[in-house]
Amino acid sequence: MHLIDKTFEPFISEEKILQQVKRVAQEINHDYTHLNPLFVGVLNGAFMFAADLLKNVTIPSEVTFIKVKSYEGIQSKGQVSNLIGLETPAEGRHIVILEDIVDSGHTIQHLLKMLQEQHPASIHIATLLFKPQSLQTDVQVKYVGFEIPPQFMVGYGLDYNGQGRNLRDIYRLKT
Ligand code: IMP
Ligand code: MG
Repeated sequence: MHLIDKTFEPFISEEKILQQVKRVAQEINHDYTHLNPLFVGVLNGAFMFAADLLKNVTIPSEVTFIKVKSYEGIQSKGQVSNLIGLETPAEGRHIVILEDIVDSGHTIQHLLKMLQEQHPASIHIATLLFKPQSLQTDVQVKYVGFEIPPQFMVGYGLDYNGQGRNLRDIYRLKT
């Protein structure tokens, strides 16, 4: 599979993705039963994960989105900018951040800092993909779909310079 100037190979099938998304949703249903969690999806990458996860959330809950940017090409810059802020008040709420991937952890650290300022009751992170070997911060990730090696992925919301977000499966960069 080709995107722009790179070749990618299949890595995680849609079927396996949906299985793990469902498993994460069930864990959240169990942990947040009477807490009316506020899901905060991180655009653009988490749109597909958020949609499939929320279809499997059966407890009272709300969802909103924020938009940040931290990546150019296939390397994290370690710098994060806010493009759309949080519009639902977070004070006293039980927040679950929905991310497509935690790589260096800089994005999530920035988000945690920003949301903590609003004094939520709790904040936890749910990410579809987690690259433990790339982590450069000490953030705790509570819900993980898949732990993956430190390689570049596209599909299911993840992009390479804007391309590939619509793919149903996840592909990894061929080296
Ligand atoms: P971090 O700040 O380094 O943890 O990176 C987080 C953000 O970088 C994610 O929300 C993604 O948007 C992007 N990112 C990290 N790794 C990948 C990848 O393998 N493919 C596509 N985007 C990625
Ligand atoms: Mg992202």
